[in-house]
Amino acid sequence: MSTNILDHNHTSPMPQTIPAISIAPQRAGAAERKKTYPYRFPRDGRLMGGKYSVTENARRLQRFFYFERRLMQGLGSWTLSIPEFEVKLETGRHIFYHGDAARLLRERLHEQEIRLKQVDGFRDAEIDRMVEEVLSADSPAELLVGVHQVLGRALATTYRHHIDDTDPVTDAPTIRCLRRILTDYEPMQEWADQAIAAYIDGGVDESRLAVWRWHLQRLLASVGGITGGDPRGETPSPLRTDTKPYVRGTAPLRDVRFDTFKNTGDYDTADAQERFPKNSYENLRLRFIRTQRDEVDAIEAFGTFIWDIRFKDFESEYNLSRITWDEARHTEIGHRALLAAGYDPFELRNRLTGSTCRGPMTDPAFAMAEINLFGEVGVLKTINHLIDEAANRNDELLRHIAGFIRADERTHVRKGTGILKVMTNLEAKELELRTRELFTECLVSLGAVKSDMDVFTVSREDIEHLVGE
Ligand SMILES: [Fe+2]
Ligand SMILES: [Fe+2]
Repeated sequence: MSTNILDHNHTSPMPQTIPAISIAPQRAGAAERKKTYPYRFPRDGRLMGGKYSVTENARRLQRFFYFERRLMQGLGSWTLSIPEFEVKLETGRHIFYHGDAARLLRERLHEQEIRLKQVDGFRDAEIDRMVEEVLSADSPAELLVGVHQVLGRALATTYRHHIDDTDPVTDAPTIRCLRRILTDYEPMQEWADQAIAAYIDGGVDESRLAVWRWHLQRLLASVGGITGGDPRGETPSPLRTDTKPYVRGTAPLRDVRFDTFKNTGDYDTADAQERFPKNSYENLRLRFIRTQRDEVDAIEAFGTFIWDIRFKDFESEYNLSRITWDEARHTEIGHRALLAAGYDPFELRNRLTGSTCRGPMTDPAFAMAEINLFGEVGVLKTINHLIDEAANRNDELLRHIAGFIRADERTHVRKGTGILKVMTNLEAKELELRTRELFTECLVSLGAVKSDMDVFTVSREDIEHLVGE
C-alpha cells in the first residue's frame, strides 16, 4: 500500500504548523509596494472558519430541503379544506414560499456535490411522520399552529443558527440562500401569529391550540429537531396519524360570508337575473372580474395537484407552487377589482362548480386538463378582445388587471404542458375526451347540464364556460 502524503489523519502525526518560508527581498518588496497603494477600501471583517465541512453542510441542507418540500406539498393538500378566504389566499402564497425555499436549497445542494437525483430522492420517515401529524390538524387554526408556530419557527431559528455557524467566506452562497428564504419567512411568520390570534379572538379555544402546539413540539424534539442533531426526547403518544393516516379533504369549503352555487356555471343563471344584457361589454366585464375572485377555486386545484403528484418530479411541484401563488393573486385582484367597481365582493355569489367536480378526482391528470387545457386556454381565447374593448372604452380598471392576468395565464399554459406530461401518458385526444366525459358526469350530477341522451358529452366550449377560469 502506498503512503499518501495527504493521509495524515490516523497513523503518523504531521507537524502542527508548517513554517512559511519567505524570501527576504520579496517580503520587503511587498511592504514597499503596499506603501505606494493610496486606497483605503472598507475592511471585510468576516472570519474564516465555521463549524461545517461540505459533507455536514449538505447533510443539514438536505433536511432543510425536505422539510420545505413537504410543507409545500402539505399546505397544498389543505387548500380545499380551509374555509376562511383570507387564510386560503395567504396559504396559496405560502405554498410558493416553501416551494421556492426548496428550490434554492436544492440548487445549493447541487453545488455541494449532491446529484439532483439524490436531492430529489431523499426521504426521511421521521420527518414524514412529523409533517403528516401536523397535517392531521382538526381545524385550519391547528394547521397554522403546526405549520408556522412549530415547524416554521423551528426552521427559521435553525436557518439563523446555520448562518451564524457556517463559514462566512467559504460557504457564503449558503448564507445568501438562507437569508433569501428568511426574507419570505419574516412576513409569513408575522402574519401567522396574527391570524392565530384572530382565530382565538373569534372564539377558537386557545388551550386546545396550546395542547396541539405542545404535542407537536415534543414530536419535533423526538426526531432531533430540524437538523436531527438535537438531543432526542420521548415520542409523544398517541399520535393522531397512528389511529388515522392523513388523507386530504375533497370538498371545497367557503366561510360564512360567501353565498355559493354549483348547480350551474353561469353567473346570470345563478343570480336568476341579468345585471347587464347578455354579451354586452358590461356583462363580460363583470363576469371576468367575478371569475378572477372565484379563482379561489384555482388555488384549490393547483395546490391539490402538488399533493396528488408529490415526489414524481420536483420541477413540476415547483411550477405548480408558483401557479398556486399566481391564482391566489388573481383571487385578490378579483376581490379588489370588485370593490373598485363599487360592489361588496360578498354580495356576488361564488361559483363552486369547478372545484366541486375536481376536488374528489383521484387522478389529477383530468382535473389538470380541465383547468389548464380548457380553463386557462379558454381565458386566452377571449381576453385579447376584452382588453382591446377596455382600452377603447377607457376602462382603465379592466385594462390594467386583465393585462397582468393575461401574462400570467400565458405562462400557466406554457408550464402546464410539462406538468401534464408528468401526470399522464395519455395522448392529447384521449385526455381531452376522458376529461370531457368525467366533467359531463359531474355536471349532470350537479344539475348544471341536463342529460337527455344516453351517450352525451358536453363540448369543450361548454366546459370552458361552465367551469373554466
Ligand atoms: Fe388565474
Ligand atoms: Fe391560471
